[in-house]
Amino acid sequence: MITLDKLRNDWEHLAERDALWAILTDSTKAGRKWDVAEFMATGESEINTVMTYLASIGCLPDCKGSALDFGCGVGRLTQALARRFASCVGVDISQQMIDQAETLNRFAHCRYVASSDTRLPFTGDSFSFIYSNIVLQHIPQYMSELYLREFVRVLAPGGVLVFGVQDSFSTGFLASLLMRTRQIVRVRSRVKAAMGLSAGNMQMHCLPERAVRSALGSAKIVDIRYTNTAASDFNGNLVYLEQAPTSGYVGKQYCVVKQP
Ligand SMILES: C[S@@+](CC[C@H](N)C(=O)[O-])C[C@H]1O[C@@H](n2cnc3c(N)ncnc32)[C@H](O)[C@@H]1O
Repeated sequence: MITLDKLRNDWEHLAERDALWAILTDSTKAGRKWDVAEFMATGESEINTVMTYLASIGCLPDCKGSALDFGCGVGRLTQALARRFASCVGVDISQQMIDQAETLNRFAHCRYVASSDTRLPFTGDSFSFIYSNIVLQHIPQYMSELYLREFVRVLAPGGVLVFGVQDSFSTGFLASLLMRTRQIVRVRSRVKAAMGLSAGNMQMHCLPERAVRSALGSAKIVDIRYTNTAASDFNGNLVYLEQAPTSGYVGKQYCVVKQP
């Protein structure tokens, strides 16, 4: 069974070697080729896309409240949230990621916390907005379900939760099995080759909708969108898709509101 210790060790290795490329595995940026400003600009663009989408469905969060970025990495998205919210917290399992996030922090009202516990280190009803993207796809299903319960606990009544998952693998069984094997091997070998790793593995896990619904309990799913975040070389350019991809991982983004 994959444990939190194993996940933390993997991400510490990845962060130490090339944190930016471990986060956005754009094939042209392997080997520490990400320019930091360009990398951080992808976070601003992604949060802008998400806020425009939330406005379009009448679900904008209260920016006078506090935002949580779960699995914040070096703060690519946290810094963009800090530009919009009165206060902001990024939490990550990797101390190395948190150290780098603190170096890149430009806001006094933004802080970073390392946590390797499925119980989040926050009191209940704390956040008006919780965002998590390209994180739960790297966490085993049973753990993601625990985190979803925690998101609901720490979300303020009336607060908005937006998170991305890989729902499933599409197409027929054999094609799907072949593609899945190829994709995992490709991601893992690219990570290893670029970072000279034997210990660090980027795990990929699906979280089907029935599991999401069960974990969210009484919180209301307002909307679900297909996204392009399943791409093995996702470069931070979040796109909402008209329909589910016909092959490979099916990325879904959930918008959830905790009933007041
Ligand atoms: C692909 S990166 C995405 C970082 C950030 N969300 C972004 O898009 O810039 C995944 C991040 O999730 C973190 N992570 C993985 N498992 C975690 C867990 N159980 N708790 C908190 N963070 C976790 C990793 O350390 C890593 O920084």
